Amino acid sequence: ATTLGAAAAQSGRYFGTAVAASKLGDQTYVNLLNTEFNMVTAENEMKWDATEPNRGQFNYSGGDRILNQAVSNGKRVRGHALLWYQQEPGWAQRMEGSDLRQAMMNHVTQVATHYKGKIYAWDVVNEAFADGGSGGRRDSNLQRTGNDWIEAAFRAARAADPGAKLCYNDYNTDGVNPKSTGIYNMVRDFKSRGVPIDCVGFQSHLTNNPPGDYQANLQRFADLGVEVQITELDIAGNQQANAYGVVTKACMAVRACAGITTWGIRDTDSWRGGENPLLFTGSGAKKPAYTAVLDAL
Ligand code: XIL
Repeated sequence: ATTLGAAAAQSGRYFGTAVAASKLGDQTYVNLLNTEFNMVTAENEMKWDATEPNRGQFNYSGGDRILNQAVSNGKRVRGHALLWYQQEPGWAQRMEGSDLRQAMMNHVTQVATHYKGKIYAWDVVNEAFADGGSGGRRDSNLQRTGNDWIEAAFRAARAADPGAKLCYNDYNTDGVNPKSTGIYNMVRDFKSRGVPIDCVGFQSHLTNNPPGDYQANLQRFADLGVEVQITELDIAGNQQANAYGVVTKACMAVRACAGITTWGIRDTDSWRGGENPLLFTGSGAKKPAYTAVLDAL
């Protein structure tokens, strides 16, 4: 195959990218999007601040533009993200306790219902675990509503859209470490108690090679009975092409690794300004990292 999406599809996988609605008028961008990718994530447009700018007033304009562009070009969509401690609207940032819990669950229900039947997988909860050695949850107003907020969100999402896979998504989870193990223990607990969870997303914002146990870490989650997905891949550093190959081969070696999404198309589209961590140059040319990925798929 000669494109990322077609090459990934040969093994039943997808190859996706984050998309910004504001770039859908850029012809170079849209040509690469339509040619190379068969999965799309809204970079910001489905987040809480975008979709519910005022409590109970929903705005799906940006998310719908991205979804409609994707679907009309034969691509699937990952929903990102129903609950995250960042990019909360100001009104939610100022809330706490049972009032906030009610607003959180209403948000999950409303957004998942709006997109019902149209989303391949939702990042139901994003970045809820702490960095460092604790293996525990990150402090946030969401967490302070009670430790059961994550399972409550997954149950609400399942009720609203039974057809979407439901993922937990985080970063700094690339190897076996206290943070990834904390998430692993949560997923194992959810599976044992019947809390609906179908997938774990590994953002994989990297510099050069991932940890040596990257594939083994993906595999231990897969062995819990969930799909694993590489959800926001971007790689800085002077060994970039090699590292992209290593990550791609790891996904290919794990049967339950459903696909890879890069967090943007061209280096100029990246949120990591100046690090040039993506597969295409600012002018849309394929980089050595592109070839490394295509060869590994
Ligand atoms: C980033 C976007 O790329 C930026 O445009 C925005 O300003 C901040 O968020 N983890 C995530 C993504 O889950 O939603 C973040 O996206 C990058 C880190």
